[in-house]
Formats: sequence, structure tokens, C-alpha cells
Amino acid sequence: MINIKNLNKYYGTTKVLNDISLTINKGDIFAIVGHSGAGKSTLLRCINGLEQYQEGSLQVNNNEVKTLKKDKLNNFRKNVGMIFQHFSLLERKTVFQNVALPMEIWKYSKEEINTKVLSLLKLVGLEEKRESYPGELSGGQKQRVAIARALTLDPEILLSDEATSALDPNTTSSILNLLKKINKDMNITIILVTHEMEVVKQIAQRSLLLEHGNIIGLDVTENLFLKPDDKMKEFLGEIDVVPNSGINIKIYFPKDNTNQSLITKMARELDMDFNIVWGKLEEINTHIIGNMIINIKDEQKEEVCSYLINKNIIWEVL
Ligand SMILES: Nc1ncnc2c1ncn2[C@@H]1O[C@H](COP(=O)(O)OP(=O)(O)O)[C@@H](O)[C@H]1O
Ligand SMILES: [Mg+2]
Repeated sequence: MINIKNLNKYYGTTKVLNDISLTINKGDIFAIVGHSGAGKSTLLRCINGLEQYQEGSLQVNNNEVKTLKKDKLNNFRKNVGMIFQHFSLLERKTVFQNVALPMEIWKYSKEEINTKVLSLLKLVGLEEKRESYPGELSGGQKQRVAIARALTLDPEILLSDEATSALDPNTTSSILNLLKKINKDMNITIILVTHEMEVVKQIAQRSLLLEHGNIIGLDVTENLFLKPDDKMKEFLGEIDVVPNSGINIKIYFPKDNTNQSLITKMARELDMDFNIVWGKLEEINTHIIGNMIINIKDEQKEEVCSYLINKNIIWEVL
């Protein structure tokens, strides 16, 4: 559905996106992750035609976005809804009027607007607030209004730029659940930009890690977390603090196979003792993955390593 190849984007002479290539399929929930200034919002704006890119190709449904002219571009934008961190609601308009706005601009009839807005307010759980003003709503409720507004023109794609960054963790989860529901029930492709790893873990099927305009990771989300490479570890701020004597081995537990008994089995079968330095399990996209670091004596290394190889375990010596 979205096909980006060797895309370069400059502001003046500064390159802000460097050689970006990726594919997003219809129905995906895809995350663009990175620190502030990485180029996430710029990439999102290139996808909806709000920003020009100088080199490479960016196609949405086989249309090269930068060559779209007025009418086609307007129709294209209609097909792409967007939500933002600060909701962008009109304070002097009611919830109903805010949601109705895009349909008014596109000159839909009053009946069509009424039916659509009410069904969307129901979807986001705000029927009762239709006559309220944004100032009377919580952050989460405001984002729900913005989501309803983004869906009025029946987009195929919903772009979210830090839509949960101003919300507390519980509200964030409820908004992410709503986005998941929209993705599933309405088959809307969702691309979300975030600097929050928790958001990525909760919702994204695939993720792109962006740093200074470069792709430093692009994979199924579990894989990015399961065995993070050095760049990813740096991004996550994860440093393995380990004993400086003996040998430290990190064992990774892939999704749905947390292998909890591996360590005790290995100890029994090899008739050895190890120190468990630390371990953790995390839920990513409803899958449990994890890792554990053990510390062994130098002379145990060969036996332990061949055991892990035989059992097809993912591991590394730190
Ligand atoms: N309109 C602009 N003009 C010039 N530079 C910009 C503009 N918008 C963003 N930038 C620069 O481009 C880089 C990427 O910005 P942005 O895409 O907003 O990053 P992110 O969303 O990841 O925080 C930053 O260095 C930023 O300063
Ligand atoms: Mg941004």
C-alpha cells in the first residue's frame, strides 16, 4: 500500500531523511520511533503529501505522492486521516461541530453529516459529550474527538503524530485500544509516530527506528526488542551491568516460548551451578518475550555453549 524507496528529504541544504526505504501493507499498524529531531514527523508529512521530498520515490496505492496535482492531491488527503499530540480542536466549536468540520468542507448533506458524526461519536464513546466544548473535556476525551474527526471522510490510512504523548499511561492505553479496534474493525492502516517505547510495545506490529534521518532498525516489533542490536540498545538506554569475573551469557526467550525451565534443566542436565545475574519478561503486542543473563565459570563455557547451540537457543556472550 505504501512503498518508499531511497527517499531523501532536505530542508535547504540540510538532509533530514536519508535513503529511507520501506513498505507498509494495508491493515498494518506501523510505528515510526525515534528521539526528538530524528525526522519522524517529516516522514509522516511526506507520506500525506504535506511535505515535498527531493529524491527517491514514495508511493501510496501506486501513486507517486509528489507528482499529485491539486484535485488528485485533495482526494488523496481525504483518504489519509491525521491526529496530533495537541489534538488541534477548535475551542469555540462543540464536539459535534469539530467532528463535522471535514464533512462540511467537502459539502456533505446535513443528514449525511448527522448520521456519520453520531456513529463516530458512538465509536469513540462520546455520544453524551456531543454538545460539550473541548475546554470541558479531558485530554483522552479530546483525543477521541480528534480521532472521530479524522475518520469522517472514511480514510484508508490514519496517521498519528505523538497522539498519546500528552496523556497519562492509563489514558494512553485506552487510546491505543481504540486505535487497535479501528484498525481491526474498519481495516484502516495506522502509522504512528512516537518517542515512547511503551506505545510501540503495546500496539505496533512492525516498527521503524529512526535516528538523525537514518533507518537504524526496521522489523517486526518483537524482533527489535527480542535481541536488540547495539543501536537499539543505545536507543533503549539499556546497558547490561554484569559481574566482571567469569563469563556472562545472555539468553533470549522468543515470543510464546519463554523457556522458563531452560535454566533449571540445563543446570540439572549438565550438573552445574550458575549464577543468575538478572532477567526480565515483557509483553510486546500480546506476546511475552524476555531475556536472562547468567554468570558461569570459565571452565563451564564450552559445555554451556554447546548445550545452548544444541537446544537452538538465541544467546550471546557479553
Ligand atoms: N520546516 C522546517 N524547516 C527546517 N527544518 C526543519 C523543519 N521541520 C523540521 N526541521 C528539522 O528537521 C529535523 C527533523 O524534524 P522532525 O521531523 O520534526 O523530527 P521529529 O518529529 O522526529 O522530532 C530536525 O532537525 C528539525 O529541526
Ligand atoms: Mg515530531
